[in-house]
Amino acid sequence: LELVARAFLTSEHEAVFSEHAFAVYPIVTQAIGATARIAKANPPDHEMPYGHDLDAMRARVNERTRVIFIANPNNPTGTWLKTAALEGFLKAVPESVIVVLDEAYFEYVEPAMDCPNALRWLDRFPNLVVTRTFSKAYGLAGLRVGYAVSSPPVADLLNRVREPFNVNSLALVAATAALEDEAHLARGKAVNRDGLARLTVFCRQRGLAWLPSAGNFLCVEVGRPGREVFLELLKRGVITRPVDNYGLPRFLRISIGTEAENARLLDALGDVLDG
Ligand SMILES: Cc1ncc(COP(=O)(O)O)c(C=O)c1O
Repeated sequence: LELVARAFLTSEHEAVFSEHAFAVYPIVTQAIGATARIAKANPPDHEMPYGHDLDAMRARVNERTRVIFIANPNNPTGTWLKTAALEGFLKAVPESVIVVLDEAYFEYVEPAMDCPNALRWLDRFPNLVVTRTFSKAYGLAGLRVGYAVSSPPVADLLNRVREPFNVNSLALVAATAALEDEAHLARGKAVNRDGLARLTVFCRQRGLAWLPSAGNFLCVEVGRPGREVFLELLKRGVITRPVDNYGLPRFLRISIGTEAENARLLDALGDVLDG
């Protein structure tokens, strides 16, 4: 994401992204001195509450726009964009604008969600950059390895601003092995699916609303400042993510863990909500 900003943005240019989108988009935009154009997200009563509104994003594009960042699925909301809507958006965006489809959580997506694999569009849209990471479903966050897939001319430009050895050899070996370990991926996805199901049952029982999630976390409306609940959970040894800095002060993003971790979270959260 940072390489895209370094390759395509300057202080004369603008980047478009959504409200409540992944925090790195504003950071890399600001670090370059470019201008962020933030599109209003979907309203709370939308099918994808607080998710990206592609019409609002398109309306933010002008002759200074060089990059659009889209997280699909998005962190921290968990919401996603469906195939037809995203394809229509790609067709409508001028070719001079780089569209980054950030698919960090792609591996968790279920077929029924109709959340597309954007690699299929690379042949048609030379301005498309699809980014993926080994930090999520592959469990290698500490190794700091990810990748982008794009047309050769765009890859060439990204390569020009990339440090020659930006990924170390151990991370590369691990990433290659991880790609082949389909059993591990399938196990992780199954644990995630079960964990999400348990957490949503808990929320329903407690009368808490949550956002639809295609990722490995759930954004839960906790009925009070999310940061308060975060601090109480922290006292009980459970780390969650307050998302007030994302403009969602009454939500808490809860990552799905192992079965034992999920059980501990539910105990602690029940305790905090009762207290
Ligand atoms: C939407 C999204 N994109 C990209 C990333 C980047 O992950 P990493 O820098 O660990 O590869 C994250 C991590 O939180 C994310 O949530």
